[in-house]
Amino acid sequence: MTDRESDRNPFLKGNFAPWRMEGVAEDLEVAGAIPRDLNGTYYRTGSNPAFEPPGRYHWFDGDGMIHAITLADGRAHYRNRFVRSRGLQEERAAGRALYRGLLDLDPSEAPAIKNTGNTNVVKHAGRLLALMEAAWPTRMDCATLETLGEFDFDGRLASAMTAHPKLDPETGEMLFFGYSPFPPFLQYHVADREGHLVRSEVIDVAWPSMIHDFAITKEHVVFILCPLVFSFENMRERGGAFSWEPERGTRLGVMPRSGGNADVRWFETDPCYVFHPMNAYDDGDAVVLDVARYRRLDFMTADPASRESYPEENAARMLRWRIDRRAGGVKATPLDDVIVEFPRVDERLVGRRHRFGYTVAREASSFEGTGPEWTGIRKYDLERGTTETRRLGAGNGVGEPLFVPRHDAAAEDDGYVIFLAYDQARNASDFYVLDAGNIAGDPVARVVLPHRVPYGFHGNWAAAS
Ligand SMILES: [Fe+2]
Repeated sequence: MTDRESDRNPFLKGNFAPWRMEGVAEDLEVAGAIPRDLNGTYYRTGSNPAFEPPGRYHWFDGDGMIHAITLADGRAHYRNRFVRSRGLQEERAAGRALYRGLLDLDPSEAPAIKNTGNTNVVKHAGRLLALMEAAWPTRMDCATLETLGEFDFDGRLASAMTAHPKLDPETGEMLFFGYSPFPPFLQYHVADREGHLVRSEVIDVAWPSMIHDFAITKEHVVFILCPLVFSFENMRERGGAFSWEPERGTRLGVMPRSGGNADVRWFETDPCYVFHPMNAYDDGDAVVLDVARYRRLDFMTADPASRESYPEENAARMLRWRIDRRAGGVKATPLDDVIVEFPRVDERLVGRRHRFGYTVAREASSFEGTGPEWTGIRKYDLERGTTETRRLGAGNGVGEPLFVPRHDAAAEDDGYVIFLAYDQARNASDFYVLDAGNIAGDPVARVVLPHRVPYGFHGNWAAAS
């Protein structure tokens, strides 16, 4: 038993360890009161390996598990299900893991990648889609979380799909892209508000990279090309599919939404990595883009299970890029010096000027114990240049915060901040509802979940219709 990956890897321990039961829990205990105007379901996915990994484990490898918390008329219910991918079904049949992880891919054979759906879960045009960026979406039943199968937009989607599509709040369109280590390296897609894929276009990029997310404005699409380069040589020699090549710099590709590949203009800035923009918007001749920026992405090119792969000086911090489309050039302005990730804004302002944003935050001392946990929720007021943090305490890690407006016409800050947090003392998780106007104050409600929800990736709120 001594060479089990789970005994070694911090991403398989503590509240990173997978939760293997599926179930339903109704009428959960609530501290405080769930607002009567907050009706809908919070869906979240994460990496949750159903079997002991056969080799080295990367946090991005695990099977997807969807957790759903439904709030209805002041009551709270919970449900969770695996994303039952074809790969997981094969493994269930075999009774063990069959797929290699990201760090052990063999470039000499066609890499078999499991479509885990572990990265994000998004509802568009009535479809609930579990996403991971190397494959097609997986459609899930909104109510039962049953896996309905891979979804290729009726045969139209000719690339993988990013886990970070953007839903335009005015047009109802879903804008997204897919990337690949093989040409074409990048494709852009638009699904209309009914969910029909109405546009696909190859975008020329200077090198193949892991492009995790992008940004839109009302008038533009912004692609972020970082110097994390696909490298089969690296895969052969060190393991892992990427090499860090800072001499290439980072390029921001701005494309008019009414244009195409020929209209993309690339703007150069310092080498860095960005998993997640907070949001972007047009400001005259400029595009403003707020991002969580890493100076260097060590954990994709070194051992991700090692503490040394997370040097504090390179960790992500909020930064504003102002791209001057007329004069050219990118002006970078640091917004904060605290380490953050998972930036979000009010979904009604995606692509529009935002004042407020929400992230998870890490204080230096909190990377202790089992893994790199996020121990606070941070709110940015970008107009006033102020921040506010809610600290949950070391060991009590939090997940991505979402803003939910009090009602459709509510002001930008008038609503709730919702997220999952691990309670180490109870070895279980809570679902928090905070007043967005006072995130450090008493929670509006804390839903006491029946067990822990492992740290995961992204989620979204679907209001009850
Ligand atoms: Fe992400």
